[in-house]
Amino acid sequence: MKYEAKKFNIPELKGISPKQVEVHIKLYEGYVKFTNTLRETLSELRKDSEKNSYALGEVMRRLPFEFNGMRMHEYYFEQFEGGAKEVNTGSELSKVLIEKYESWDGFINHFKAVGLMRGIGWTILAYDPIGKTPHIYWVNDHELGQMSGLPILLAMDMWEHAFMVDYVPAEKVKYVEAFLANLNWEVVEERFKKTN
Ligand SMILES: [Fe+2]
Repeated sequence: MKYEAKKFNIPELKGISPKQVEVHIKLYEGYVKFTNTLRETLSELRKDSEKNSYALGEVMRRLPFEFNGMRMHEYYFEQFEGGAKEVNTGSELSKVLIEKYESWDGFINHFKAVGLMRGIGWTILAYDPIGKTPHIYWVNDHELGQMSGLPILLAMDMWEHAFMVDYVPAEKVKYVEAFLANLNWEVVEERFKKTN
């Protein structure tokens, strides 16, 4: 099989320009392309894995980067589809977040603080269906620090390419505010429902 780049139906966003979205989607399509290229390369290399052991090792290490670059951007862009919709304050998702972070603002403030850490990567809200608890965590690049088996509910891209058309790095807090203001929380709540 081959992965296909998804088409996203993204409305006009506040504080994130159409040009920024356009260049970002082009980058996403690059991750899809390279995921396919690496998979094809691997299917050749594994025909003689002894002879190709060095190349195999290099390509294997590259695959999670490209694959997660593809998948994380799908989480990201889907969160804007349908336009901004606030969280349902009576929902189960609200309840588990408020229970852990003491208030909705407590959750948002911690999520923002993790997003504003130095470095490039992703800020993620995920849910552990085994421990029955949400986690906010940071991923370097696209793959380093992913927590095993936790379905991702919300993914905020903190690579500079996500905001540099609109903001300089010193203004990245404005991008974080814009990201949060444009979210369709129904998408996030649907992801949460699927974890149960
Ligand atoms: Fe990105």
